[in-house]
Amino acid sequence: MSRSERKWDHIRFALENGQQRLTAFDDVQFIHQSLPNIDVSDVSLHQKIGGLSLSSPIFINAMTGGGGEKTYRINKQFAQIAKVCGMAMAVGSQMSAIKDTAERYTYEIVRKENPSGIIIANLGSEALPDHAKMAIDMIEANAIQIHLNVIQELTMPEGDREFSGALRRIEEIVRKVDVPVIVKEVGFGMSKETVQKLSDIGVSIVDIGGYGGTNFAQIENKRRSKSFTFFNEWGIPTAVSIFEASNAEREVSIIGSGGMMSGIEIAKGLAAGANAAGLAGYFLKILIDEGIDSLYEEILLLQNELTMIMTAVGAKSINELQKAPIMITGQTFHWLSQRGIDTKKYSQRTIH
Ligand SMILES: Cc1cc2nc3c(=O)[nH]c(=O)nc-3n(C[C@H](O)[C@H](O)[C@H](O)COP(=O)(O)O)c2cc1C
Repeated sequence: MSRSERKWDHIRFALENGQQRLTAFDDVQFIHQSLPNIDVSDVSLHQKIGGLSLSSPIFINAMTGGGGEKTYRINKQFAQIAKVCGMAMAVGSQMSAIKDTAERYTYEIVRKENPSGIIIANLGSEALPDHAKMAIDMIEANAIQIHLNVIQELTMPEGDREFSGALRRIEEIVRKVDVPVIVKEVGFGMSKETVQKLSDIGVSIVDIGGYGGTNFAQIENKRRSKSFTFFNEWGIPTAVSIFEASNAEREVSIIGSGGMMSGIEIAKGLAAGANAAGLAGYFLKILIDEGIDSLYEEILLLQNELTMIMTAVGAKSINELQKAPIMITGQTFHWLSQRGIDTKKYSQRTIH
């Protein structure tokens, strides 16, 4: 099967499977404040992450390109939405266009549609510094994501079987490119040990890509004759992974993603320690099933929901939202306790 056909399989199965809704955000609750002492108009969604200035913490995460005309159209529409909403946007892995220049246009359209927007390049951890530079140049990217997807590759019938050296290659890329490098998972979450290893080599932004939304083990299992079913439930739920990442020894900027579908999940992710929220499968489904206008309305709704929640807890900025007191219960509480992560600091903190 060609790379381009595989791209379309991924989109088809991601849409068919949908979001799993197992992100563990149900275990996180804001502690109600009857006297928030702010107005809706006081709330700003502006956010800075790794030197990138975002008008909202919500962005379109990496999905596609490299699958000919269909992926060109999807990227074009996402770029149009990103432009009108002032949102950042990542493209899907650009290795296909590095290997086959005929696919470049499916990515380049994103910069053409949105000449001054924040656009993020994407490659896998097999990439070398020269690949990273090519990917960045291709779309004049403001940052690059390097994705880690071991479980997806292991489940993929034709996937990689060699994973050694990834950390060393990422370190080289961090040293040799002059835009921020974001290391991301694709729906299996990151542990604090992983985040620690990445920060040790100079990575300052991670996208934890948590479990509970799009499930690439299930997607690849649909492409196998004998399923590796044990990987279907493999991974660290998004909420748990954000707590893990924000408790790594060294502080890094955290992007929360994986199964985000509502303002309350985004708000909880930010309160758990994320600085931004990436949405992939949910946005794709709305775009394909309902069209670009519906996606635009949904993004405005998400931004409005987030503003209302921030008002309710008395947070004027994302930084303040990160100090809002929250209660951690259920499985997530047990997980964090077993991992030596103090949960009381979240329930006993205050914004002011
Ligand atoms: C159709 C599709 C293709 C994807 N392709 C990529 C990719 O090329 N590179 C990447 O880093 N992540 C890719 N992802 C993963 C997403 O960026 C994200 O990490 C994952 O889907 C979990 O987020 P979600 O639950 O909001 O979809 C893809 C996701 C989808 C749905």
